[in-house]
Amino acid sequence: EKIQVIHAQSKFTSAGVPRLGIRQLNMDDGPHGVREELEWNTWNPARWTNDSIVAFPSLTCLASTWNRDLSRLYGHSVSEEFAFRGKDVMLGPGVNIARTPMNGRAFEYMGEDPYLAGAMVVPYIQAAQKNGVACCLKHFVLNDQETNRFGVNVNVSERALREIYLAPFRRAVEEAHVWSIMGSYNMYKGVHCCHNDELINGILKGEWQWDGSVISDWGGTTDTWQAATGGLDIEMGSFTDGKVKESEFTYDDYYMARPLEQLINEGKIPMSVLDEKAGRVLRLIFRTAMNPKKAIGNQCSEAHYDACRAIAEEGIVLLRNEKAKNEKSATPILPLDLTKYKHILVVGENATRSLTQGGGSSELKTLRDISPLEALQDLINQQNTLLPSPIGEGSGVRLSFAQGYTSGRALYDQVDTVDPAENERLKAEAIEKATKADLIIYIGGLNKNTKQDCENGDRESYDLSFGQNELISQLAQIQPNIVVVTFGGNAYATPWLQQVKALVHCWYLGSESGTALANVLTGKVCPSGKLPVTFAKRYEDYPYVRYGEEAYQSNSSEVTYKEDIYVGYRGFNRDKTQPLFPFGYGLSYTTFKYGKPAVSGNTVSIDITNTGAVAGKEIVQLYIGKEKPQEDRPVKELKDFRKILLQPGETKTVTFTIDRNSLAYFSNVSHQWKTETGRYRLYVGSSSADNAHQAVYTLSE
Ligand code: BGC
Repeated sequence: EKIQVIHAQSKFTSAGVPRLGIRQLNMDDGPHGVREELEWNTWNPARWTNDSIVAFPSLTCLASTWNRDLSRLYGHSVSEEFAFRGKDVMLGPGVNIARTPMNGRAFEYMGEDPYLAGAMVVPYIQAAQKNGVACCLKHFVLNDQETNRFGVNVNVSERALREIYLAPFRRAVEEAHVWSIMGSYNMYKGVHCCHNDELINGILKGEWQWDGSVISDWGGTTDTWQAATGGLDIEMGSFTDGKVKESEFTYDDYYMARPLEQLINEGKIPMSVLDEKAGRVLRLIFRTAMNPKKAIGNQCSEAHYDACRAIAEEGIVLLRNEKAKNEKSATPILPLDLTKYKHILVVGENATRSLTQGGGSSELKTLRDISPLEALQDLINQQNTLLPSPIGEGSGVRLSFAQGYTSGRALYDQVDTVDPAENERLKAEAIEKATKADLIIYIGGLNKNTKQDCENGDRESYDLSFGQNELISQLAQIQPNIVVVTFGGNAYATPWLQQVKALVHCWYLGSESGTALANVLTGKVCPSGKLPVTFAKRYEDYPYVRYGEEAYQSNSSEVTYKEDIYVGYRGFNRDKTQPLFPFGYGLSYTTFKYGKPAVSGNTVSIDITNTGAVAGKEIVQLYIGKEKPQEDRPVKELKDFRKILLQPGETKTVTFTIDRNSLAYFSNVSHQWKTETGRYRLYVGSSSADNAHQAVYTLSE
């Protein structure tokens, strides 16, 4: 019976103990909604008719909100859907670090900074688990690329491991008490992370004293001895060949089934090892499946759509907003004043494509999926009905659409199967239509197809694919009033940036995609998202790229994080490289004025004033750097943030308390956390590149 509860009995369940009335664990992906029901023992859809759900925005979008309350709302809402579907364990959220913009799964994670990821994941987990649904935090750890994900051995310094890669997991353990964690496919020190003794027994269960269960990634278990002794508690998905082929096997053949039982019976592995695992699994069952307070939940409620839309609206990031051409007033092109245009042309595949599908295990089957084109058309219809009647030919705004490019309609199509001639044809059609438009809204980006933000493969180019760069640039030459909207989980190159009037980045927004986007474009919602990743001008500018193939993409079985702790903005600052858009950056339809930061004791306060004409939210960020550090340290690192709503003319004071522990670094000399006393420089600002509001803080013994 103890052996039975520590491995799968189907694709997504592990057994209980029927004799004792102990229930099985029902698990499901995660992290943006409940996955479509699959057959008991295959990856094929079970063809249920009642398993359509709300797709919530991608976790990068959530991170972009920098709003802890929305994270709580997200965890609460999504877990209600899991509970309603009878699930006990939600496979997500994920906090792997975006060290490269090529990572095919970055959209499932919360950006490049461990503080932001940690701060955002804690309320999500707390709220979900309050409903009796366990989060299974992914992917522990160093699963920061999809290239060679099943076999790559990650070499990383202990300092970078602790300060960057483990940090958000630690907060999830210590502050949110997450109930389960998924071991990752990749290796560390030559051992797969699903059963890595040093990471799991040493750090997670040892140092952090975590009492939860480690669940293997599907097919991530590779050895009985290591699985037994390396801290794995539940083995899932073994013997599948990368989710594609189903080989002949029985669940009794799992590494932690009969083979383990045999080793125990032979006395080679003590019973205490099995007791420990079974005990942890029972604890997980009692916390979830047998939790008398488990929520009943609900699916597709209006409250969930509202939550979805609110998160999407706050996660959208406005990156550029210039004055429209021929515009006499000084106002930028966004928010759009629809009364000014006669003929709006929407171009781009993502205007109509469902972006809730694809991506791999995070794919979702939705009941409602509002596309940008639909939402814009609705708005324009509404607007036209407001016109003095009758609406004759030539009055009102006309909206037309041109796809502009194709990425290959079928999911998981290979990029190179796209027919270039078809793309030329679509481009020519868009350009032809552009000559008749007085405003172009371009809606493209990435899309969760293979190598376009999808599991088991990284992106192949920092540029947008399918000729999008050329298309945007040519459209802009024809009609300079062009607003570019992109979807995608990563940063990308924008060689056409100076040619376009506005740029809006949307990550993936879920079921309410179109509505949220339309609300931001037209100003019903004032944009307030800020980037959780750095957008580099050129791919070569990312800190790891200078170290060549060894540091990423060698396709070899080794990758070495040579940039060490200098991931993302930490590296850009050290190298004095100007990013295109820095971490923490995002524009608003209003403007904010920062006062002078004032330090008092262990707090720093600053006045923020809304100096524009509309209400808006600002994300005030606190970065801290040590002056004259004893060991090498980043110029500054994010240590806190606050999101505040300000009416026009309103001023609020934001006060941060400086937490002594947050100033610690992991010493390469003593191999311990160390907090240095002395002078620290505080930077309170609107992004990681804002150095205008500094103060000094002295930490005494
Ligand atoms: C993914 C996990 C996912 C699991 C089950 C794996 O391939 O890496 O994140 O939860 O499949 O679908």
